[in-house]
Order: sequence, then C-alpha cells, then structure tokens
Amino acid sequence: MTKKLNVGLIGYGFMGRTHSNAYRKVNHFFDVPYEPVLKVVCGLVEDEAKAFAAKWGYESYTTDWRKVIDDKNIDVVDICVPNNVHAEIAIAAAEAGKAICCEKPLALNATQAEEMVEAIEKAGVPNIVSFNYRRVPAVTLAKQLIDEGRLGRIFHYRAVFLQDWTISPNVPQGGMATWRLDVKAAGSGVIGDLLAHCIDTAMWHNGPISDVCAMTETFIKQRTHAETGKVEPVGIDDACTFFCRFENGSLGNFESTRYARGHKALYTFEINGEHASIAWDLHDLHRLSYFDHRDESIVRGWRSVHITDSDMPYMDKWWVPGLQIGYAETFVHQVAEFMENMAQGKPTPPTFRDALATQYVCDAVLASAKKKKWETVKKP
Ligand SMILES: NC(=O)c1ccc[n+]([C@@H]2O[C@H](COP(=O)([O-])OP(=O)(O)OC[C@H]3O[C@@H](n4cnc5c(N)ncnc54)[C@H](O)[C@@H]3O)[C@@H](O)[C@H]2O)c1
Repeated sequence: MTKKLNVGLIGYGFMGRTHSNAYRKVNHFFDVPYEPVLKVVCGLVEDEAKAFAAKWGYESYTTDWRKVIDDKNIDVVDICVPNNVHAEIAIAAAEAGKAICCEKPLALNATQAEEMVEAIEKAGVPNIVSFNYRRVPAVTLAKQLIDEGRLGRIFHYRAVFLQDWTISPNVPQGGMATWRLDVKAAGSGVIGDLLAHCIDTAMWHNGPISDVCAMTETFIKQRTHAETGKVEPVGIDDACTFFCRFENGSLGNFESTRYARGHKALYTFEINGEHASIAWDLHDLHRLSYFDHRDESIVRGWRSVHITDSDMPYMDKWWVPGLQIGYAETFVHQVAEFMENMAQGKPTPPTFRDALATQYVCDAVLASAKKKKWETVKKP
C-alpha cells in the first residue's frame, strides 16, 4: 500500500526540473511506500510558476514560499532556490514539522549551516541534502569497492570539476542561473557550487578531511549586476585548487574552475590504493575504470567496467544489461531512498549534518586561500 506524500517545491529552475522529474518517475521504477503528489510549486515570477505547474502537473503555484510552509497539507518541502535562501526556508520548514530535501551547498557558510542543523535536529524531521553524484551507480560502486577493501590502504584522492561558461566578461552576476556569480546569493564561487560535490563524494568514499591548503583566483574582477544594471566588484572565486589531508592518512588534491576552455562539466576523480585504483568521469558516467595490481601481469591493465548489470548499484531497477542510465536518474535514486528511509524512520545520507561537514571543508578552503596558510577543518 502506498501512501500519498504531498510535495511543495520551492524553485522551478534547473534543479526544480530534475526534482520534479524524479517525483514523477520514482513509482514507475522503485517499490517505495509513498506516492509523491505534486501539490504546489513556488518561484519568483508568477507566469513562470504557473507555466511550470501546468507543464509538470503541480496542482497549484505561488510566489510566496511561506505559503508552502504554512500549508498543513504539505509533507515535504523541496528547496531548489539559490544558496542564500536555503537557511530561512529550511528552518521555517523544520519548525513547521515538514520533511526537507535541500539542494547543495547546504548554506552560504558554516555558521548558517550550523543553525540549520540545530533547527532540523531539534524538530526531528527527515532531511536530505541533494549531493546527487553519490547516487550515480558507478560512484556508488566505487564506494562499495573501497568498503570491501579491494583498494587496500588508500594513498591518494584526486578530484577535479571543470567548466568554461564564465570566461566572457559579458556574463552578468545576479539573476536566474547567474546568481552563482553574485557572492551575496552564492556564498562562494566554484567552492560551494562545484567543489562541494567533490568534497561530499570524497569524504563519503575516503572519510573526513582534517586539513586544507588552498589558493583561489577571481579572473574577472567586475561584472554588470543583472538586477541593479551597475558594474560591481565580483566577490566569488572563479577558480580554486586545494591540497588536503584525510584523517586516514591519505592525501587529497582538488581543483575546480569555470575557466577551463573546452570543458562543460568535467567532474572526474581517481583514487589510488595499495592494491588497486579507481577512476571515474562524469562525461562517461556509466563506466568505472579499475586497475588491480593483483591481476596476472600478462593481462593486468586498466579495465573499463560498464555499469549496467543488475547486480550493480540501482541497475536492477532500470533496463536490461548493456543499457545505461544517466544524470536525471540520480535524482530518482535520491527520492526513492529518501522515501524508503522516511517510512522506516531512518536517516538518509547525506543528511544536513553530513552536509555541515562538507560546509566546514568549504569554509576552511576559503579561509586558507585568504590567509595563504594551512587551515584545520572543524569537525561537525
Ligand atoms: N545537485 C546539483 O547537481 C545541482 C545543480 C545545480 C544547482 N544546484 C543547486 O540548486 C539550487 C538552485 O539552483 P538552480 O540551478 O536550480 O537555480 P535556477 O536559477 O535555475 O533557479 C532558481 C529558482 O529559485 C527561485 N527563487 C529564487 N529566489 C526565490 C525566493 N526568494 N523565493 C522563491 N523562489 C525563489 C527562482 O524563481 C528560480 O525558479 C542552488 O542551491 C544550487 O547550488 C544543485
């Protein structure tokens, strides 16, 4: 028997679409105890909210997120708005007893994230932060291989996330999508937007990060603000590189930029262990590269595992071996596990508290770059 789960979505942009698609699909592929009902969508522009509601089948729309929180019928508040609005909505939703799915990064900074964790834990509401790359089957399989001890002791964790869409000085700061370039809305640049994903996945795979040493650069110092029309200083980091130490003794090396001409969303990681190594590439997300030194030397080499067989993470829910899934499905996995755990009263990682740990690393990276010194990461 499935119960209805009434969803209030706040934000109908890029993430609003991925989350709506997941709610629409989940019951077709996963046997979960709830059936999401798309009750209300909220966003800044009334006509756009109305059109979104019609396209995705939301029963109603509003431009005031407080109406979503005040609505007694809403069970889950799904936060898909710019980073500077996460905290206010999440805290209000927790106080109203709603389950919460919040987009990443959790907050503008760790101080705000701590307030959110306190409110969520005090209210005891189900919560998840949408670090969706954990739920790419190949990335989940990497976690399984590490946990099984196949890599042995881990020496290195290397991750990059490269884009090239802000190279032109004519890209504005502020406004739909380009709020990412406005430090007041985003909190940081590539650190919170892109490296937060790499950090979340890395700590899930390889445990907590203890110390960081970072450098950042803002290549374009001034941009027109889409809302004021004025040329204003740019406060975000356009690029960031950092080294770190993990608590398990391994070394980390992370890089992100929006100035890597030719790369749209090149998220890659490589993990080198005593016996084996793993590598993954978002542009080829259904493959996991694996090298095992224990193989017989005459056939030893990097193998590219096609993640489609039914014994691989999530793949028994989809098509037949050989046929792959993609980006959109990571959000279906996220919703399915959130609902499954909610029914059983269990937390779904990454929780707000898990995301606070990522926020501490992001804050330490920013502080290290500013001070030009190693920085110790606070523990959640
Ligand atoms: N998990 C991922 O891979 C991923 C990818 C992209 C974005 N994100 C995160 O998702 C969030 C949203 O990003 P996006 O790309 O969807 O942004 P977007 O610009 O495409 O959409 C933002 C939406 O928020 C709405 N909005 C803004 N302020 C509001 C307010 N005060 N009240 C109500 N609605 C408001 C806008 O109307 C718009 O619908 C961000 O936190 C971002 O970091 C995550």
